[in-house]
Amino acid sequence: MRESGPIGVFDSGYGGLTVFREIAARVPEYDFLYLGDNARTPYGTRSFEAVYLYTRDAVRWLFDRGCRLAVLACNTASAKALRTIQQKDLPVLAPERRVLGVIRPVTERLGGLSRSGHVGLFATTGTVRSESYPIEIHKFFPDLVVVSEACPLWVPLIENGELDGPGTEHFVRRHVDCLLARDPEIDTIILGCTHYPLLSDVIARFLPPGIQLVSQGPIVAESLADYLLRHPEIDALCRRGGGRDFFTTDDPEDFDRRAAHFYGGPVCSEKTDF
Ligand code: DGL
Repeated sequence: MRESGPIGVFDSGYGGLTVFREIAARVPEYDFLYLGDNARTPYGTRSFEAVYLYTRDAVRWLFDRGCRLAVLACNTASAKALRTIQQKDLPVLAPERRVLGVIRPVTERLGGLSRSGHVGLFATTGTVRSESYPIEIHKFFPDLVVVSEACPLWVPLIENGELDGPGTEHFVRRHVDCLLARDPEIDTIILGCTHYPLLSDVIARFLPPGIQLVSQGPIVAESLADYLLRHPEIDALCRRGGGRDFFTTDDPEDFDRRAAHFYGGPVCSEKTDF
């Protein structure tokens, strides 16, 4: 019988913790390993090649630590690296292991959310350029109009703890106004970067009434719970024990201090390299 291992959760830095906290609340019985590549963040402004290579390194690291299932809790990695990893690397590296992303669970559920049929997306430049969201959304809902807005400064603001105040408001308002000027019929906006839920109060401040913001965490958590139910052979390889281990590629003290905002509770991390 194959040995079971923790479920891996990966992000370029802190953002994936907004997804991980929801996953850990939804399926608390499993062991989890969180890896933040803080030394090489942000991914959102990097090339396809760089994001793919970094993400593949991270997946290998998680597999080396015994993970049989890994979640890329990063839209940029999901957009730019997931498909190649699933189709090219996994069959060679570890055919019986699985890697999931965060884009598909959200796009699958979108049709029931928008009444106007016009959806907005805030995401990193990399995710927007990949066009992964419109491509995935149109597989399920070909008639939905999708308008994307890249917000390259939001991740650095969040990573530096600038979660409110006049400077942050300026950069949030600029992108909200740009998006809505391009399509005033938008009634649903996806926060297509795992960092952005930390700005949701500021974003909401500049939205006209009636527009809903969609955060990924609860949707991805529900989707993972459903996946484990539908795939008992993978579920059997995911260890139950309630453990949570955190690793960062940068300074762990720094990580723990800032990670608490994203995770909603204390975090104690270790440094790793890959
Ligand atoms: N949190 C990542 C995402 O969901 C982006 C952060 C970064 O640019 O590294 O896209």
